[in-house]
Amino acid sequence: MTSKLTCSITSFVCAFSAALCVSLRPLRVTGISTQRTQRYAEDAEKSAPLPGFLYKAASASTFAVQVQNPDQPIEQTRKNIQVLKGLPESQLFLLMNFMAASIGVKCDYCHVRKGEKYFDGNWVWESDEKPQKLIGRRMIKMALEINRTNFGGETFVTCYTCHRGSTVIKSLPPLPPHEPIPPTAGLPTAEQILAKYFAAVGGQEAAAKFKTTVMKGTVEFENRLEGRNAQLEVTLKAPDKYLVTQTSPQGVSVIGVDGETVWVGNGNRSRMLSGYTSEWVRRTAVFYAPIKVIEQPTQMKVMGTEKIGDRETYVVSLVVNPDVTKRFFFDTQTGLLLRQLTTTRTMLAPLPEQVDFDDYRDVDGIKLPFMIRSSNTATYDTATRRFTEIKHNLTVDDKAFNLKTSPPQ
Ligand code: HEC
Ligand code: HEC
Repeated sequence: MTSKLTCSITSFVCAFSAALCVSLRPLRVTGISTQRTQRYAEDAEKSAPLPGFLYKAASASTFAVQVQNPDQPIEQTRKNIQVLKGLPESQLFLLMNFMAASIGVKCDYCHVRKGEKYFDGNWVWESDEKPQKLIGRRMIKMALEINRTNFGGETFVTCYTCHRGSTVIKSLPPLPPHEPIPPTAGLPTAEQILAKYFAAVGGQEAAAKFKTTVMKGTVEFENRLEGRNAQLEVTLKAPDKYLVTQTSPQGVSVIGVDGETVWVGNGNRSRMLSGYTSEWVRRTAVFYAPIKVIEQPTQMKVMGTEKIGDRETYVVSLVVNPDVTKRFFFDTQTGLLLRQLTTTRTMLAPLPEQVDFDDYRDVDGIKLPFMIRSSNTATYDTATRRFTEIKHNLTVDDKAFNLKTSPPQ
């Protein structure tokens, strides 16, 4: 159990804004899994004592809380579980979002909602009143069965395999048929792809070239509410200091990493994080660093090519552990990293977390993305960061990273 949880958490490294909102929440152990996991902005708005943009209680918040508490199977925490027995509570909402995204619907396609609003109290999740929910249950059973009997329990077949984002299933290939594309021969090795990547961003020592990096811009959260956007400032100081400040009309919120120590703060409150949450916050620094791939190419495998928008990419995968796989997508032309996708195994489907990098520009001889977007299967977990200014070697006092001595204003 413990190792399973450890694995799961690593996959959520990418939900970096979410880490912040988790950490600030008082860990009211009971109630969180039932209240918080609904994760609707309106719901959170009613009760969260946090700046607005942090209401976005992402998947990750569920996780972090769960990790610090026993993660119970949903047949113990929920009322009407027949096929997903054994699924940890921390994975329930992510999986439901996965299902909804796979068939292109929202929760109320299958679940009964009593009022207009999307907030928690209005839902009767356990109700089997809607026929779509019964079909959904039959489909879950079928997918589990297909994978168990044909793929040794690997979750190769998911809702998306057949549905492709729609309730209507296509059973015919488009006509006239295309000439099949021959398998790509002569792909470069992982070492070659990584070498090209390092050269493209400005050399393997790019990170060591500058003492500090200060990035300014905005972060935009994709949800139905207004006023959830914030000014963003990210500061990196070699070798191990990292500061993220988000300022919105609702207030200022800060993460400060000073070597081993991680702080979060908002208003004039701050507190230190420990354990998994702190480890995880520290690791998100890599998404802002010039070198975003720190793993060894010797452990990586080249999977083929894939398109991201109009760019062709090499897909390189890395099995972190039996439950977690990372995939890196490098532009075949420029060599730059366009995407990192982390998947975590669950009983029904692998849960994806993605970080996209775009709008690379030259800053003092190295290449940095001016757009970084993190997302998962829930629309409201998407956060897009756009930088307007990135500067190197500004003087930043070491004290700034320690929220104990420099609390947020
Ligand atoms: C395709 C239909 C479908 C969609 C869409 C769907 N669900 Fe579900 N949901 C189910 C089924 C089926 C179950 C029961 C699973 C079982 O019996 O093991 C369930 C169970 C649940 C439960 C536990 C209910 C209980 O108390 O027993 C919750 C909570 C839940 N879903 C939330 C959501 C949320 C949130 C969304 C939207 C992101 C969503 N669901 C979208 C089909 C769906
Ligand atoms: C092997 C292919 C396949 C997989 C995998 C699959 N489905 Fe389906 N699904 C179908 C087909 C075919 C239909 C249409 C026939 C039917 O409605 O029974 C359908 C219909 C549905 C419908 C009814 C759509 C409507 O018309 O309202 C729902 C809801 C649904 N699937 C949910 C799911 C969910 C959730 C999953 C993943 C747990 C899933 N399906 C996995 C093939 C699949």
